[in-house]
Amino acid sequence: MISAGRQTENTILQKEEFEMLGNFSYCNPTKLYFGDESLKYLNDELPKYGANVVLIYGGGSIKKNGIYDEVIEILEKNGKNVAEISGVMPNPTVDKLYEGVEIARKHDADMLLAVGGGSVCDYAKAVSVSVHCGEDPWEKYYVRFEEPTCETLPVGCVLTMVGTGSEMNAGAVITNPHTHQKIGHVFADEKIMPRFAILNPKYTLTLPHYQMVSGIYDIFNHICEQYFSGEDDNTSDYISEGLMRSVIHSSRIANNDPQDYEARSNLMWAATWALNTLVSRGKSTDWMVHMLGQSVGAYTNATHGMTLAAVSLPYYRHILPYGVQKFKRFAVNVWNVDAEGKTDEQVAQEGLAAMESWMKELGLVMNISELGADEGMIEGIADGTLIMPGGYKVLEHDEIVEILKESLK
Ligand code: NZQ
Ligand code: ZN
Repeated sequence: MISAGRQTENTILQKEEFEMLGNFSYCNPTKLYFGDESLKYLNDELPKYGANVVLIYGGGSIKKNGIYDEVIEILEKNGKNVAEISGVMPNPTVDKLYEGVEIARKHDADMLLAVGGGSVCDYAKAVSVSVHCGEDPWEKYYVRFEEPTCETLPVGCVLTMVGTGSEMNAGAVITNPHTHQKIGHVFADEKIMPRFAILNPKYTLTLPHYQMVSGIYDIFNHICEQYFSGEDDNTSDYISEGLMRSVIHSSRIANNDPQDYEARSNLMWAATWALNTLVSRGKSTDWMVHMLGQSVGAYTNATHGMTLAAVSLPYYRHILPYGVQKFKRFAVNVWNVDAEGKTDEQVAQEGLAAMESWMKELGLVMNISELGADEGMIEGIADGTLIMPGGYKVLEHDEIVEILKESLK
């Protein structure tokens, strides 16, 4: 998930002028607290901010599993004056954003505490950049892709769902159901990243299987989106291969026994590293699976990771001929495909076949029809798909239509 405007500029620069790692900066200021005792560190963080806190959460899972009570107790102990924004839905909408901005303004908020998954964390960042902004946030950040020109509020995050990496990045995805657009903006200023994130793998144990595997595929695809670009020798790709192997390994354990703490904690850690900007350094990055998936999401409101799963194989099989060496490397280094006596193309195809069996083993949704998309939506979904130039093939509109039609099956 990337900011379309900035990404286009970066990618064109990289393609024309970069070799090897090129030029970049790297800064990630989010402080992480990891482990089954990590919530207690909220006591260290809260005193750094003013008294007025807005607690932001989703549709109620945190009330059922007790996380809400634990957080409220710590907020009270620290003398905070708390207002709430509840009911942040998966794929948060622009109308919900407007509602939250009003609540944060009325409360004269000093900080925003997000307790939930990527939707809640993203939403908190969107509120953060909008509270003191006199303009319409959808127009400013999601249509014109501008950066904040106003004061922004600090965001803290207690993560309960693993996948997006939102806990350690500056991305905020908002859906506009009126225009059928689901748009991600990755803010350039690292102060939009959460100031701190509390990662307790135990909190993820109550996730339904559907959400768990959807999140697993989201992690995996974030790595793919950065890996499948460039032909140079880049350290980021070796890190990515290690992360992918770890995700595959832990996902199989978690799929058989979702209560396996070790596997769930490795998945939580891998998710953070998959999209906290590290493995994108020196890469042009692709992100077309996310662009296709987001547009499917705008039409169907389907679960994010499942939209990616449903379009991935038709997309990767389409671009494979343009990046065959990388797909071959993926097959050998990530899926242990034996290359002996085979053509590069055969090895590359076997890698995707291995990925397909793993996806089916997890129970991922493998086509967009199952997510509610139909033939009549294809043109609209294709129109809403932003075209990114950083991968192995810059897609034409007709190719997007073809990939989406293939994804219906
Ligand atoms: O709303 P509640 O009741 O909390 O239920 C949630 C929600 O229904 C439930 N859930 C979360 N933690 C739970 C739990 N249920 C039981 N036990 C728990 N511990 O899970 C459901 C999904 O939650 P959500 O936050 O929507 O999932 P996810 O973390 O996948 O976030 C998806 C959003 O993040 C965006 C997506 O587009 C989507 O809008 N993304 C953000 C990115 C970023 N910031 O960089 C990158 C991603 O590519 C992605 O685009
Ligand atoms: Zn994603």
